[in-house]
Amino acid sequence: MADEQAGVSETEIAVHWHEEEYYSPPESFIQQANLKDPEIREKFRIENFPDYFAEYGELLQWDRKWDQVFDGSNPPFWRWFVGGRLNASVNCIDRHLASNRNKAAFYFVPENPDEMRQVITYQDLYVRVNEFAALLRDFAGVKKGDRVTIHMPMVAELPIAMLACARLGAIHSVVFGGFSGQACADRIIDSESHILITMDGYYRSGKWLNHKEKADVAVERAEQAGQHVDKVLIFERHPGRYSSDTPLTEGRDFIVNELLTQFRGARVEPESMKAEDPLFLMYTSGSTGKPKGVQHSTGGYLSYVTATSKNILDIHPEDVYWCMADIGWITGHSYIVYGPLSLGASSIIYEGVPSYPHANRPFEIAEELGVNIFHTSPTAIRGLRMAKDINPQKYNYHFKLMVTVGEPIEPDVWRWYYHVIGRDEAVIVDTWWQTETGGFLCSTVPALDKMKPGSAGPGVPGIHPVIFDDEGHEIQAGSGRGGNICIRNPWPGTLQTIWKDPERFVRTYYGKYCKNPDSKDWRDWPYMAGDGAMLASDGYFRILGRIDDVINVAGHRLGTKELESAVLRLDEVAEAAVIAAQDDLKGTVPELYVSLQPNVVPSDELSQRIVNAIVSEIGPIARPRKVWIVPDLPKTRSGKIMRRILASISNNKEIGDVTTLANPEVVDTIHQLVRS
Ligand code: WTA
Repeated sequence: MADEQAGVSETEIAVHWHEEEYYSPPESFIQQANLKDPEIREKFRIENFPDYFAEYGELLQWDRKWDQVFDGSNPPFWRWFVGGRLNASVNCIDRHLASNRNKAAFYFVPENPDEMRQVITYQDLYVRVNEFAALLRDFAGVKKGDRVTIHMPMVAELPIAMLACARLGAIHSVVFGGFSGQACADRIIDSESHILITMDGYYRSGKWLNHKEKADVAVERAEQAGQHVDKVLIFERHPGRYSSDTPLTEGRDFIVNELLTQFRGARVEPESMKAEDPLFLMYTSGSTGKPKGVQHSTGGYLSYVTATSKNILDIHPEDVYWCMADIGWITGHSYIVYGPLSLGASSIIYEGVPSYPHANRPFEIAEELGVNIFHTSPTAIRGLRMAKDINPQKYNYHFKLMVTVGEPIEPDVWRWYYHVIGRDEAVIVDTWWQTETGGFLCSTVPALDKMKPGSAGPGVPGIHPVIFDDEGHEIQAGSGRGGNICIRNPWPGTLQTIWKDPERFVRTYYGKYCKNPDSKDWRDWPYMAGDGAMLASDGYFRILGRIDDVINVAGHRLGTKELESAVLRLDEVAEAAVIAAQDDLKGTVPELYVSLQPNVVPSDELSQRIVNAIVSEIGPIARPRKVWIVPDLPKTRSGKIMRRILASISNNKEIGDVTTLANPEVVDTIHQLVRS
């Protein structure tokens, strides 16, 4: 590797912290837990792979049962539940009707507390998904295997649109609602979608946001790149009242709420899909510019999120579950839509920001709806902790279980979450996983394992993690050294490939540690997550963050190259590097180091345009906190930008030895600039 030649290894991670204390789940929780069999890890030991995963398949309703649990004959393109046939919408809806027709599937809670919330029962969901599926099929011409891009806010119509696609066997690609029209266009182009589903607008922080205008940008830019979108289907946030200032384009834009009147009472026969037919694509940032279309299967994925929702989130039919993630990210796909619905759960979809109109809104909602499972991120927890008027004691709610996900949680923040939000009675699961993995990889089993602040825990049952150093040697438990966390075995929730780029799939996740590319033995193909981690002597994994260049802002993964490419669209910019700067609220935020073309004079106006370029290309979430205009960026001799050195400068950390760089003198210059 280039960096090693320069004497700087990218996988080396310094580890300084001490061991934290344990917390035990209360007896009352253990009594009622779904998974309390102490033999579970024995049953799911690696010697029993892959048969133990048959148990996960059994949780689903199949049109045709599988012939083979696992087919590993073409590594690393694993196939799960081969020969099986099923439909995801049937598993999430139809199979609950007989006994739970009138049970709430979702409560939609609008941001404005004065607007009525909606209760969507399983019967409602069944009717609405069928009618919208009929519209997609008969009006929009959507067929099995087509890709459909969905760019929507957090409303009940979003899972309805996803499930309607699933019913038809179409592959949905949901784009996070806060992303720009350009980001949506990039995903339309890569997935070759000819249909875009969107909404006129929505509320955020008390403001009405025009969302339809992004659809215009997306469709136009896609057209320029040769991808034609036939129809834009627009849900109305206030049914019957189109509320966007952006006009409709004749023949292309259609109001769903009007069209639906033609499909009242329509029922759509669900497509019987092969277990390994793709269910959806979810684009995620890699370390090169283009986002990767992570492809998930129907049977393997659905079985995995169902089982982990049951075992780790401990969802029971009588629980009220609230995951504050956005459905536009994988957490929302797996643990708002597919896992919970497959179990027949009742969950909350909340439209806006949790602190609107006051900091205690989450507790108000929890009290009102009886939420007892609460799922959020370290960023949101830090936000709550910093809010001035926070007062959970005032509200009458009881959480039995709380989840943290998306980034490492600081032990102090964990303890605050446990004592103040959880009232010392809720079990916490710190779930480590990724868009690519479909579901949880590391977490304590809530009734069986003690909690340890800041550590995700052991692999969940059936997942066997290992930490490798740069050379592929195992780093032993308790050694105090960090390394590259990998998973020894395949699992049903794993991504199948990267859409239209199988080579990138193999290279990214298996390139570094595959022992023998000709091997047909799954044991030679550990999955590389790309995260740094360390393993304590108790078998708990502590995640240290991304090893590659992807940065994690408020639990959202952003590719540095994606941000840098946006900046490099400005003619004045020569080079750009994005780093993750520590931030009290968000954990990390992007900071930008930029060098300019010769003879370009730095100015505030230029810095502002640089910021604007990122916001308009990627979205406000990527807004850099600071733009440093510097003479040059530190690089290895092979020309690789050393972001880690810039990050050390921004975060006021020890920079270390830079003498092996191609241009060590620039480090001092930048350091002085930032210090002043
Ligand atoms: C990070 C989100 C520490 C990690 C589910 C991972 C975490 C990336 C945790 C995936 C956690 C997620 N502790 N780090 N509990 N959960 N991460 O694809 O770096 O949006 O690789 O999936 O988030 O982010 P993604």
